[in-house]
Amino acid sequence: MSILTLAGSPAASSRSRALLEWIGARLGRSGERVDSLAVRDLPAEDLLFARADTQALQAALAKVERAQALVISTPVYKAAYSGALKTFLDLLPQKGLAGKVVLPVVTGGSVAHTLAVEYALKPVLAALDARVVLNGVFIADSQLEYTPDGLRIAGEAESRLHEALDRFEDAALRFRWPLAGPRSAVAVESAFPLPVSG
Ligand SMILES: Cc1cc2nc3c(=O)[nH]c(=O)nc-3n(C[C@H](O)[C@H](O)[C@H](O)COP(=O)(O)O)c2cc1C
Repeated sequence: MSILTLAGSPAASSRSRALLEWIGARLGRSGERVDSLAVRDLPAEDLLFARADTQALQAALAKVERAQALVISTPVYKAAYSGALKTFLDLLPQKGLAGKVVLPVVTGGSVAHTLAVEYALKPVLAALDARVVLNGVFIADSQLEYTPDGLRIAGEAESRLHEALDRFEDAALRFRWPLAGPRSAVAVESAFPLPVSG
């Protein structure tokens, strides 16, 4: 299975990117083929002026196209996801996530914005035709600490991450290409399951 980690922070020293690197290593240890991409490493002018035809952007877009499943990380910025991530998502084709399983991972300063991923990022991923968008994982800054040995993640947050990554691997295996039979509707996990009537 080919997995892409996509880091959406513009920061040079980035918590959400460090967390994503931890996630990439964890998936690699489970035997997955993991490639990585960070929006910050792409030429800023290509992103801002929406130049998808440059060599750098073409290579980045090809990584997304090749991936069967993506983990996308972003910081919460102004109660939503980062503008840097949006500049890149805007360059994907209309159905640029078709057939793919996506796990959003978000870091933020305040738990008041835990749901930013639900109302801000998930609709965009669904609009890009992702096949499955899993419930996002929100990790507060207070749960992350840089140490000389690398990133330390608070126990509660680490268990939630392992749980989410297990679900991600299951979903990626279950929905991996080629699609069997007619394509089903987009599945978006909801933090607020609707009551079943009848
Ligand atoms: C411009 C800016 C806006 C931010 N807005 C919010 C916000 O609305 N809510 C929040 O919880 N944290 C906010 N934060 C804090 C970041 O989400 C948090 O520190 C995050 O872990 C940073 O991730 P990064 O290091 O990968 O960029 C903001 C930080 C910056 C720099």
